[in-house]
Amino acid sequence: MHPNIQRIWEVSRPKLTPLSPASMTANAAATITTKPSDAHEIGGYTVPKGSTLILPPILLHKDPEIFPDPEKFDPDRFSAENSINIPEYAYIPFSVGPRNCIGQRFAMMEMKTTISTILRSYRIQSLDSRDVALPVMRGTLRSSIPIRVRIRPRKS
Ligand code: HEM
Repeated sequence: MHPNIQRIWEVSRPKLTPLSPASMTANAAATITTKPSDAHEIGGYTVPKGSTLILPPILLHKDPEIFPDPEKFDPDRFSAENSINIPEYAYIPFSVGPRNCIGQRFAMMEMKTTISTILRSYRIQSLDSRDVALPVMRGTLRSSIPIRVRIRPRKS
């Protein structure tokens, strides 16, 4: 893979965390639900067989123990070097296990292609601050207001 494309992957992964405008366009999952076929002990609690578990990835993705200063946009958070320290199930924008997202590789390629095509020519700036553009839970996590952006041609 070309190093610049690899870099787009590293930079776009933090944006998949469902609180940023980019992730909302990416329809990041608000919740993942599952029904365990057997009883399990999780964190000292018994989860009975057949109960419905609702997993909001945002709580995992904003865990400061795994992702220090989680609200900060930090492109190096997912660099190859730092990714080694992220536990396997701590970052699950596409879910995990047998029913995970079958479109994830396509979605990542689509995002890399779109982001690299747009950013080659334009700078994009959000016109609304993070404390105004609050997330809301729908089927997918979305902004409570339309995200307004300014697109300006790059100086050649
Ligand atoms: C950034 C974009 C995307 C994200 C964040 C995403 C996320 C997810 C998540 C979290 C699940 C599991 C849902 C659950 O278990 O409740 C899922 C399932 C699924 N996704 Fe995606 N997805 C994305 C793009 C796509 C695309 C582009 C396709 C198709 C081309 C796709 C097709 C599917 C399908 C068919 C399932 C169900 C798989 C199954 O139940 O076996 N997704 N996706």
